[in-house]
Amino acid sequence: MTTSIEWRIEQPVRSTPELVLAINQLLPQLSQRASPITLESLDEMITAPSSHLFVAQDSDGRVGGMLTLVVFPILTGQRAWIEDVVVDTAVRGAGLGRLLTQKAIMLASELGVTTVDLTSRSGRVAAHRLYESVGFVVRDTSVYRFVVEAI
Ligand SMILES: CC(C)(COP(=O)(O)OP(=O)(O)OC[C@H]1O[C@@H](n2cnc3c(N)ncnc32)[C@H](O)[C@@H]1OP(=O)(O)O)[C@@H](O)C(=O)NCCC(=O)NCCS
Repeated sequence: MTTSIEWRIEQPVRSTPELVLAINQLLPQLSQRASPITLESLDEMITAPSSHLFVAQDSDGRVGGMLTLVVFPILTGQRAWIEDVVVDTAVRGAGLGRLLTQKAIMLASELGVTTVDLTSRSGRVAAHRLYESVGFVVRDTSVYRFVVEAI
């Protein structure tokens, strides 16, 4: 893959073996602890009304990156989170991360979302640059996690 490729951002409507393969090549580049997905688990996610998967694809259907936007209503409004942002190492720095993030923000806006949140750990310099370049600002808050499987 080269950086001169024309990329389009797609929202897959069904799980396919090719998409599962592509995502399973990207997931370890996001987190070494990420478990591989299956056709069924991808299908469950894609068909969930709250989850919106975006993939960057070239004209041959090769996937260069992905992002998931999760939209949910709560009492204080329609909110959204961005998760699982990753671009293949071979095509980083070509604007794919920005393209994916901007598409997600556009959909969030169309869906009446008031805020889009995300977390990114401190060592992810490229990700921080990306998010700040499209308008995200760091909030003065703490992120807590309860690991349910530990009960
Ligand atoms: C973060 C990531 C998605 C960025 O994707 P990308 O397609 O390479 O990013 P883009 O080409 O769209 O660049 C977007 C901005 O980030 C900057 N950027 C990209 N790579 C960078 C790097 N290694 N160091 C510093 N800034 C970088 C770009 O310069 C650009 O900002 P600018 O226009 O102000 O110069 C990609 O590096 C990645 O997949 N990293 C590993 C997984 C990860 O960290 N995901 C985020 C989880 S929170």
